[in-house]
Amino acid sequence: MVTSVGSKKVKTAVFISGTGSNLKSLIKFSHQKKSPISIQLIISNDPKAKGLKLGNFYQIKKKVFSLNGNNLDEKKTILELNKNKIDLICLAGFMKILSKNFIKNFKGKILNIHPSLLPKFKGLHTHKRVLKSKQKITGCTVHFVNAKLDSGKIILQKKVNITKKDNEKTLTKKVLTQEHKLYPRAILKLFNP
Ligand code: GRF
Repeated sequence: MVTSVGSKKVKTAVFISGTGSNLKSLIKFSHQKKSPISIQLIISNDPKAKGLKLGNFYQIKKKVFSLNGNNLDEKKTILELNKNKIDLICLAGFMKILSKNFIKNFKGKILNIHPSLLPKFKGLHTHKRVLKSKQKITGCTVHFVNAKLDSGKIILQKKVNITKKDNEKTLTKKVLTQEHKLYPRAILKLFNP
């Protein structure tokens, strides 16, 4: 479990693969006084991930590790996390699956955000599948990461209504807007249960 020590903020790393809009919301949240986290490191598996630019803007250290199931790469990532005394990892649009060994190293300290009401619609192409199966409600979930994909203990969820007019693009936008609010709220809940 992660615990905050006195008034010191928990050193956090955010893992991304793409745009990084959740990363941006987490950075803004981390700057608030009430936030228990301080973002020290951004890790991306893709050197072209747009979100890496946020590292320049907000002056946060960035590292790229391909994390393609390569042991050495994973070891380097763990070393970097330990070097920066990282005590919380937030996966935010991170498209790689972390190994059991990696997860064991940071047991109870890895969070993820998923754009569905888990346990429904685990995995990729969530909104497409949600629309195809004619759901009326979807949402997003922040959960702990365990060895099974999108299956760790749920911390917080937010529902989003689907209208007849919704398509993949509108639904992505609607859910993402809620994700940006949910991730900070879930972190607050974690540290102030
Ligand atoms: C989000 O919908 C997240 O839930 C999913 O991928 C998307 C990433 O968006 N896993 P961003 O990179 O945070 O903008």
